[in-house]
Amino acid sequence: MLNLLIDKFLEGKGAVITGGASGFGRGVAHAFAEHGADLVLVDINKDLLEETSSDVEKKYGRKVVPIVCDVSKSNQVEAMAKQAAKELDNIFFLFNNAGIATAYGRNICRIKEDDWDKIMAVNLKGQWLVAKAFWRKLKANKFEPIAGKIVCTASIAGMVVDPKIPSYSITKAGVIALTQLLAKTLAPKVTANAIAPGFHVTGIYLNSERDMKITYIDGNVKTPLSRFGTVQDVVNVVLFLASPLSDFITGHVLPVDGGIAEVGVPPHDIHDSIYDDVE
Ligand SMILES: NC(=O)c1ccc[n+]([C@@H]2O[C@H](COP(=O)([O-])OP(=O)(O)OC[C@H]3O[C@@H](n4cnc5c(N)ncnc54)[C@H](O)[C@@H]3O)[C@@H](O)[C@H]2O)c1
Repeated sequence: MLNLLIDKFLEGKGAVITGGASGFGRGVAHAFAEHGADLVLVDINKDLLEETSSDVEKKYGRKVVPIVCDVSKSNQVEAMAKQAAKELDNIFFLFNNAGIATAYGRNICRIKEDDWDKIMAVNLKGQWLVAKAFWRKLKANKFEPIAGKIVCTASIAGMVVDPKIPSYSITKAGVIALTQLLAKTLAPKVTANAIAPGFHVTGIYLNSERDMKITYIDGNVKTPLSRFGTVQDVVNVVLFLASPLSDFITGHVLPVDGGIAEVGVPPHDIHDSIYDDVE
């Protein structure tokens, strides 16, 4: 039986991680390299990308190729995919993860066209462009029984739309639909699943628990498991999805949210210690 904690089950396989410089992308880069993968890390933030790539390469001794690319620009995505294929001839896994947040608070009737256009371009069009640039490569692998795998980062806001972040919610609902379409289109050779994180301190909250807590409390969010998520919580699920243990799963969205989106427990039934230190 495969041991996800120790086995080098990604040895001989390559992975492309967008948004690889920070947050979930960086966490997955460390975990994948530890489990034997060679990596292409893609990000728009050049300095952070170089820092993360060199940290991962030094720590695990794997090949790590940083490529600066804005995933919302088709010409940059095409050039990035070409370079990635030159560097790695065994790209098995695509973590389609780069994303941005939006200003908190404006409702769907009041958001600005510029904000709408920007977030649609990065969060939704970006994931589509990247999937479009890599599907042939994934499908052409000789790996059995699954030739390649895609995991797209959605959000619980794509499962239960949040009126305070409407355009973000729509992008993430779109990512779930994109994932289902990829799963149907690329089966049986390639699987495609989405993850839906909840509240985790990362770059989209400016790495500040306080900033995240403000939106959590304002939204009257309740987490049945009574803590915030960590980057590691997400990494664990992505490792599972990259492993043979998930070979019969495609087209699904897996919440990694402590139960916010789906458990459906009424808020008054939950003791949520996240609120304890709030005056
Ligand atoms: N942190 C959370 O609680 C949470 C919850 C649900 C979903 N998500 C999603 O997780 C994904 C990863 O975000 P994170 O939380 O790790 O935040 P993060 O800011 O730490 O990481 C996102 C990375 O994407 C990069 N990026 C942004 N725009 C880009 C572009 N146009 N082209 C290429 N790279 C770009 C950023 O530079 C950054 O390194 C995002 O899709 C986000 O929407 C996060």
